[in-house]
Amino acid sequence: MLSGKDYSKYFTAPDLKEAKKRGKEDIQVLQFDQIPEEMQGVGAGKKYMIETYGCQMNVHDSETIAGILEQMAYTRTESHQDADIILLNTCAIRENAEDKVFGHIGSLKALKTEKPNLVLGVCGCMSQEESVVSRILQKHQHVDLIFGTHNIHRLPHLLFNALMSKEMVVEVWSKEGDVVENMPKVRADGLRAWVNIMYGCDKFCTYCIVPYTRGKERSRRPEDVLNEIRDLARQGYQEITLLGQNVNAYGKDFSNITYLFGDLMDDVRKIGIPRVRFTTSHPRDFDDHLIEVLAKKGNLVEHIHLPVQSGSSEVLKLMARKYDRERYLELVAKLKKAIPDVVLTTDIIVGFPGETDEQFAETLSLVKEVEYDMAFTFIYSPRDGTPAAKMQDDVPMEVKKRRLAKLNDVLNEISKKKNSILQGQVVEVLVEGESKKNPDVLSGRTRTNKLVNFVGPKHLIGKMVYVSIEKAQTWTLKGKWVEEVSKSPVA
Ligand code: 5AD
Ligand code: SF4
Repeated sequence: MLSGKDYSKYFTAPDLKEAKKRGKEDIQVLQFDQIPEEMQGVGAGKKYMIETYGCQMNVHDSETIAGILEQMAYTRTESHQDADIILLNTCAIRENAEDKVFGHIGSLKALKTEKPNLVLGVCGCMSQEESVVSRILQKHQHVDLIFGTHNIHRLPHLLFNALMSKEMVVEVWSKEGDVVENMPKVRADGLRAWVNIMYGCDKFCTYCIVPYTRGKERSRRPEDVLNEIRDLARQGYQEITLLGQNVNAYGKDFSNITYLFGDLMDDVRKIGIPRVRFTTSHPRDFDDHLIEVLAKKGNLVEHIHLPVQSGSSEVLKLMARKYDRERYLELVAKLKKAIPDVVLTTDIIVGFPGETDEQFAETLSLVKEVEYDMAFTFIYSPRDGTPAAKMQDDVPMEVKKRRLAKLNDVLNEISKKKNSILQGQVVEVLVEGESKKNPDVLSGRTRTNKLVNFVGPKHLIGKMVYVSIEKAQTWTLKGKWVEEVSKSPVA
């Protein structure tokens, strides 16, 4: 139970047990309301700042939150000192992500004392956890507002309450979730855009908190997704990334139509947007029709992020991933056959409860067999409320760190080798801007999401160009801009 003073007026607390339930009711598609009259123009002359932690879903949620705030006339700032509202959009996936946020909340106390009218809010996945909300109530009374991942569309009302009341406003629904359409968005640039296709996750991998913080799998209607993408194409966007916790489950929740992720990709393929990516996929639901559609290429890029988590069938079983090493490798073989130049990337966890040296060695051997171009690697972190948190976390931290370092060494070697194959080849690059390290250098990405640096005129920013690769490094490629290409580029 949460403790603290009586917040009953503006208080709906999270409940992870409730969030775990999955009922049979149809998903409600709601439309975002107009900003209530009393909140229209409330932000005139005021500034907001959003700090985003975690995955792309959070990055895109922050774009929605920014859209709502801008409809209330707030303008963005990147400075804590100038902000009238600071929102921390948080991530709960590992303990160190949470520690960072708590450290930051603590450090903002001085600013709040200096500027008592500042509204300090916490949203995102951490706000869905009882333990987090109760810790904020007990130790961080300078927080004004907490809202959950299902409550974003309620922000105008919640902010109204926070501005009017001296008490902390907490609204975290632990429901399975709806789909809210027509939410305003402020996208980061005019070049690349995120597009939600589904929300939530029903996979319940034993280590993962996401099915509890993000609700059940629910897909946006195809016409809503396709209309949003057509609109982005009309606005000149060059690349979209379809987003979902488990995009391969897209459409499985529709009761009146049969329309799955492969069908969606086949329709997106016909829209005039140069590049289409998607993230993140689950090997279990990756069906043959989808592979067939991806093999048609065109704007569907030859890059698939396919989280494996472990190379050991025994560990995969304990993780409840619902595939084993052999089935994963079969899928990889199918993908490589259908799309010979496919680039595969992955997520891997080391040090899952009970993981032995032999089981870890199986992960290394799988990595060598698949030859991933890149991977995100993590040390297992127990999350309260998940089944794995009840297993004995018996791999010593030293061993976990050693395994992580070894895995990264192997991955880096493979990346370097794969990148060096591109030396001397011409690749298509979408130019994103000046390189972070050197403004004379431009940087952009290949279809396979590899970072390329090259010298070129500034007017190329935002354009699709060709670059001849001269030098491959572990994470980046260096090249030379080619104005004319005689043969078709490779990646
Ligand atoms: N500990 C470590 N890594 C985790 N991930 C998810 N939950 C945990 C956890 N409890 C990793 C998985 C997932 C990625 C987004 O984060 O590899 O694919
Ligand atoms: Fe977490 Fe597994 Fe769902 Fe991915 S598929 S969000 S790892 S439960």
